[in-house]
Amino acid sequence: MIDELEALAASAEQRLMAATDLDGVAALDAELLGKKSQLSAAKKKLGTLEPEERKAAGRAVNEIRQAIEAGISAARQRLSAAARQIQYDAERLDLSERLGEIRRGSLHLNTQARDRLEDVFVSMGYTIAEGPEVETAWYNFEALNIPEWHPARGSFDTIFVDLGEPEEVMLRSHTSPVQIRTMENTEPPIYIVAPGRTFRTDTADATHLPAFNQIEGLVVDRGITLGDLAGTIEEFVHAFFGGEVKTRLRPSYFPFTEPSAEFDISRPDGSWLELGGCGVVHPNVLANCGIDPEEWQGFAFGFGIDRLAVMRYELDDIRELVNNDVRFLRQF
Ligand code: DAH
Repeated sequence: MIDELEALAASAEQRLMAATDLDGVAALDAELLGKKSQLSAAKKKLGTLEPEERKAAGRAVNEIRQAIEAGISAARQRLSAAARQIQYDAERLDLSERLGEIRRGSLHLNTQARDRLEDVFVSMGYTIAEGPEVETAWYNFEALNIPEWHPARGSFDTIFVDLGEPEEVMLRSHTSPVQIRTMENTEPPIYIVAPGRTFRTDTADATHLPAFNQIEGLVVDRGITLGDLAGTIEEFVHAFFGGEVKTRLRPSYFPFTEPSAEFDISRPDGSWLELGGCGVVHPNVLANCGIDPEEWQGFAFGFGIDRLAVMRYELDDIRELVNNDVRFLRQF
């Protein structure tokens, strides 16, 4: 009988080691240790043996039972660790997982330029203002001292919207209407910049886009002079480009400022690039917004963000900003 039991133990060990899943182990457990198992039968048979033989056989039955139990629990452990691993692998959520080469996105050049401009002006104490892209003639022209008969209206190449009276509603041709909206709603002192999209009937070429971006600046306070304006422009250009870039003001004409100027910045080759217009806010404009020009003075400026981006990133053609060629944009 002992021989039989030893053969049983050897085959049990082998079968347990070969088991590939927990169900298989459970079946072996029932077969090897259950009521109908060979081991149970051997145990029953012990009573029929001679005392001497019974002792040795009893010990063998116990030892083999223990060995099989240990084998079963080892197999369970091995297979449940493996089962857990399989489940982990199936449920794994690897947040660092990626396919192919890493490609970080970046902000568009215009957005980078606008963010930087905003930072520069915010650090000088300005806040950011906004206005709608579709405007009425009052905000885009009249309140800015450009009445209907004024020749300057023509120079804005305005894109009109088919709404209301003819030429009454339009895509704003500059960000200057935000000056009016701000002064209507805010008590001076006012220090704002207003970046935003603007539109004209221009055909796109290397230096023009029909939809472009401007940033408007407006200061209304007591005792403001042209000197404050010149100092502010110089300060901002240095903060934006660094110390090497020079600025200059040239006398010019805008209906909403008096005196008016255009301002240029120096290119590396020594030539000048026209950036925008500026001036001391016209008393009529203050009065149109309910601000007393005897008490308050102001300066304003407006320039193209796209042109700044062209200059800052040394682009050959302003259309690069809107071609959406990812190979180009990815460089910045
Ligand atoms: N709005 C003008 C334009 O688009 C630019 C400009 C000139 C804005 C003078 C100003 C200013 O605020 O004072 O041509």
